[in-house]
Amino acid sequence: STDVQSDLKHVLKSKEEIQNRIAELAAEIDRDYEGRDLLIVGVLKGAVMVMADLARALHSHVTMDWMAVSSYGSGTQSSGVVRILKDLDTDLMGKDVLIVEDIIDSGLTLSWLKTNLESRGTASVEICTAFRKPAAAKVKIPVKYVGFDIPNEFVVGYGLDYAEKYRNLDFVGTLAPHVYE
Ligand code: PRP
Ligand code: MN
Ligand code: MG
Repeated sequence: STDVQSDLKHVLKSKEEIQNRIAELAAEIDRDYEGRDLLIVGVLKGAVMVMADLARALHSHVTMDWMAVSSYGSGTQSSGVVRILKDLDTDLMGKDVLIVEDIIDSGLTLSWLKTNLESRGTASVEICTAFRKPAAAKVKIPVKYVGFDIPNEFVVGYGLDYAEKYRNLDFVGTLAPHVYE
């Protein structure tokens, strides 16, 4: 179907709420990294929207790079065993790195990724995520910049997909059960 609205139960975060929060996070990041060279790393594909908006909301110079990773094994559930599908083009030695994600669910992907990037001789590695589901956490990871903590529901939009769909929505909504049942 091409009717996106009928696939959604309700809007969780509107376009305006998301953009306002991204602007606040960008101001914090500008302040925290003042006088330093920051590399922001987006995790494909979900982070494309938040990377594009965050980068444009920053006033400082940053460089941008991308990684693609995939969890091994069990279907829809993140296993924590991660494989690099596309690595960074950038040498991380001495760099201040900010990993940018759309969502932290179990935390397993980011937990692995943070350790992996730190092992490359970085000066620092911090995390920025647009959304986080505290109730779904399987590992504790320190996250410096969180857009919104959200309930443990099936959410789509603003980069978040269900079967690769809905990423292009400019808001985040909860998926209607008839879509996945
Ligand atoms: C999603 C999301 C995060 C990760 C979070 O990516 O974009 O990267 O899962 O899950 P976790 O906290 O349980 O590890 P996904 O693997 O679906 O790939 P995608 O970004 O291409 O949609
Ligand atoms: Mn992802
Ligand atoms: Mg996904």
